Order: sequence, then structure tokens, then C-alpha cells
Amino acid sequence: MIEIKKLTKQADNKLILRSVDLSIKKGETVAILGPNGAGKSTLLKVLATLIKPTSGQVVINGLDLKKNAISIKKLLGYLPHSSLLYDHYSPLENLIFFGNIYGVNKVEEKAIKLVKDVGLSFFLNEPVKNFSRGMIQRIAIARAIVHDPEILLLDEPHTGLDQGAISILNNVILSMKEKGATTLMVTHDFKQAAEICDRIIIVKNGKIVDDFVIEDHNLTFVSEKYELQVEGIS
Ligand SMILES: Nc1ncnc2c1ncn2[C@@H]1O[C@H](COP(=O)(O)OP(=O)(O)OP(=O)(O)O)[C@@H](O)[C@H]1O
Ligand SMILES: [Mg+2]
Repeated sequence: MIEIKKLTKQADNKLILRSVDLSIKKGETVAILGPNGAGKSTLLKVLATLIKPTSGQVVINGLDLKKNAISIKKLLGYLPHSSLLYDHYSPLENLIFFGNIYGVNKVEEKAIKLVKDVGLSFFLNEPVKNFSRGMIQRIAIARAIVHDPEILLLDEPHTGLDQGAISILNNVILSMKEKGATTLMVTHDFKQAAEICDRIIIVKNGKIVDDFVIEDHNLTFVSEKYELQVEGIS
């Protein structure tokens, strides 16, 4: 359902993505690992239709990204490094605002439920500007899924979350998976990757250097593969 062929991205004479080929099936939960500056967020931004590739092809659900960016956007829930929330709005107002953009039915009901799901009902009407980093991340997660996207693109989603919020996020991802959603998650947190993902991709210098299935949440296997590819230890 996501087909990436010979994808390159160049900026300021620097090749950020170098001929990336990647195929992801519906319902897969995929972690993208790799060192700082490898090109992981750039790959996610291309898929989120926020930046244009220099060359290559991306097809999502049979739609070519170059020609169908608006239709593709409706399928996506994107959680970037920054929250995209409006500071002066409350969680309820933010979720209603974003829900309306996507034409969500019964948007207020949905927003209230999502705020409850991320454990912030008590702060439903407080402006987001007073929130801690973890609280903002919780609402940002709710914002990313307000329209029940088929594809989740998550950029370091566990950063700043406490244990309770990590469980909430993992449950969100797993329950979306049960509904058939596909998740691509950039992370430096191998433990969470092993916990919830069924496939791992390692990116280094703008290229995919490893791509494997993970079974039984085997964290040691992930760490060993990473060390081998990224740190050259065998
Ligand atoms: N708009 C841009 N113009 C020039 N260079 C860019 C641009 N965007 C990203 N880069 C460069 O591309 C490289 C990859 O950046 P990217 O944000 O994709 O890395 P990353 O793998 O997500 O790293 P991190 O783990 O630190 O988040 C970096 O060297 C970065 O400086
Ligand atoms: Mg990044």
C-alpha cells in the first residue's frame, strides 16, 4: 500500500535521501531507526506530502503522491517533532479545529473522547500553552488520529512521555493496527520499537541499510542488527 521507488531528496547540494526503495503492506507496524541526520524525518516529511522529493516515485493506496497529495493527506495522521497545536486553544478547541479540517462527524464528541483516551480530561478547557511537554505530546497524538487515519506517520512519538503516556501511545498504535491501520514510526527508542513494531528499517546516510521482521519483541536482536549496520560492530 506504500510503494517507494528510487526516492531521492536533495537540499543545498546535499543528498539527504539516496535512491530509497521501500514497500510497506497494509497493517504493518514499521520502526525506522538510524543515527542523527540519517534522513529519517525527511523520509516521513516526503510521505506526509510536506516536502517534494527531488526524484523517484511514491504511491500510497494506488495514488501517486505527485498528483494526489490532497487525497493522500486525508489518509494520513502525521505526528512531527513539533506539536502543530495552537497554543492559545484548549485541547478541546484544538481537536475540534483539526477535526473540522478533515470533516470529522460528531467532532466535539470525538474530541472529548480522545482527550479522555490520552488521560487529560481534567485539562479539557485549559489553554495548551500552560501544558508540560508530555501533556502537549499526548494532545498532539490525539490530534494526529482525530480523523481515524489509515496511515500513521510518527516522528519520535515517545519523546517526552512518562510511562503512563507511553502505554497510552502504544495502545493507540496497537488499536489502530487492529482496525487495519499502517504505522511508520521514526524512533531512537529500540525498546518501544521492539515492543510494538513487526518490522524494522535502518536508515544510514540517506539509504536503507537493513530491513527485517522482528518476532517476539526481541530487543537484543534489534540492538545487534543496529550495532552491526550503524556502528560497524559484529
Ligand atoms: N531543508 C533542508 N535543507 C538542507 N538540509 C536539510 C534540510 N532538511 C534536512 N536537512 C539535512 O538532511 C539531513 C537529514 O535530516 P533529517 O532531519 O531527515 O535527519 P533524521 O534522521 O531525522 O535525524 P534525527 O535523528 O537527528 O532527527 C541532515 O543532515 C539535515 O541537516
Ligand atoms: Mg528526525
